[in-house]
Amino acid sequence: MNETLDQLMQSALAEIAGAASEDTLQELRVRYLGKKGELTAVMKGLGSLSPEERPRMGQMVNTVKDRLETTLEETLQRVRAAAKKERLERERLDVTLPGRTSPLGTKHPISLVIEEISDIFAGLGFQVAEGPEVELDFYNFEALNFPKDHPARDMQDTFFVDDDILLRTHTSPVQVRTMLKHAPPVRIISPGTVYRCDSDATHSPMFHQIEGFMVDKGVTFGDLKGILTNFVNQFFGAGTGVRLRPSFFPFTEPSAEVDIACVMCKGQGCRVCKQSGWLEILGAGMIDPEVYRHVGYDPESISGFAFGMGIERVAMLKYGIGDLRMFFDNDVRFLQQFR
Ligand code: PHE
Repeated sequence: MNETLDQLMQSALAEIAGAASEDTLQELRVRYLGKKGELTAVMKGLGSLSPEERPRMGQMVNTVKDRLETTLEETLQRVRAAAKKERLERERLDVTLPGRTSPLGTKHPISLVIEEISDIFAGLGFQVAEGPEVELDFYNFEALNFPKDHPARDMQDTFFVDDDILLRTHTSPVQVRTMLKHAPPVRIISPGTVYRCDSDATHSPMFHQIEGFMVDKGVTFGDLKGILTNFVNQFFGAGTGVRLRPSFFPFTEPSAEVDIACVMCKGQGCRVCKQSGWLEILGAGMIDPEVYRHVGYDPESISGFAFGMGIERVAMLKYGIGDLRMFFDNDVRFLQQFR
């Protein structure tokens, strides 16, 4: 048995020394030291020995077991270190290569302009309000002093959902909704989507407006002009000329259309401003007493102004965009220019 044990140890050590991988070492551990391993078999055989032989053999078996375990462990460390070294030499990492970035979206220019205008008016004490895009005739027309069958309604080519329900043609219904809910003073800015049954190079059936209005004791037409001039100077640049022309809206009296000095030619006259030097950007006026009657305000004790601006229009002027349809084509080459 002594000899058998010695042979077993020698062959095990030789095999371990020749093992080149973790897997082979694992197999050898099982083969010699596992439950059904060769050394384990020898240990189990100890019971059949005489009591005199047993302790000496037992000691020898333990020595062999310790030796094999230590050698297996040392070889395992060596094989692992060698494998790691080999891998590091193979996988070269070039830290100077440019990183891979995932593509990032951008805010749509319409959203950017809405945010910028809202910020400017927030600085002037205006709060943001919103209203529904599917609107009742009452808010879109009736309460804004467009009686049924009045020709002024023809100016706003309306998408009707039902006799009484429509897609709002402007953001002005938010005036009515706000005033019905809040007593004066109010100072509101209201951006949003509006719809008109109209489509060509300069008209989209869906577009955006931003409504602004202010009602308080003693608000004058001078306040309207002052606020708008302040806005234009912040949005289009200091010193941009502002001009008001008489106009008509059923819900304002007096009414005006507001022009800015052409941003392309600085008022000299060019193709964009059709040689006039001016560009129309919004409609405005003093809120008509008839509107106050519909919302329960007393026109004798308060007054106010309102204005409504086309977002696409001012965005085109600000960024020099030549075609309205670019906003809705969703071409990333266009959109990525607004970072
Ligand atoms: N709602 C009007 C339009 O869409 C613009 C406007 C708003 C005019 C507020 C006066 C006051 O044409």
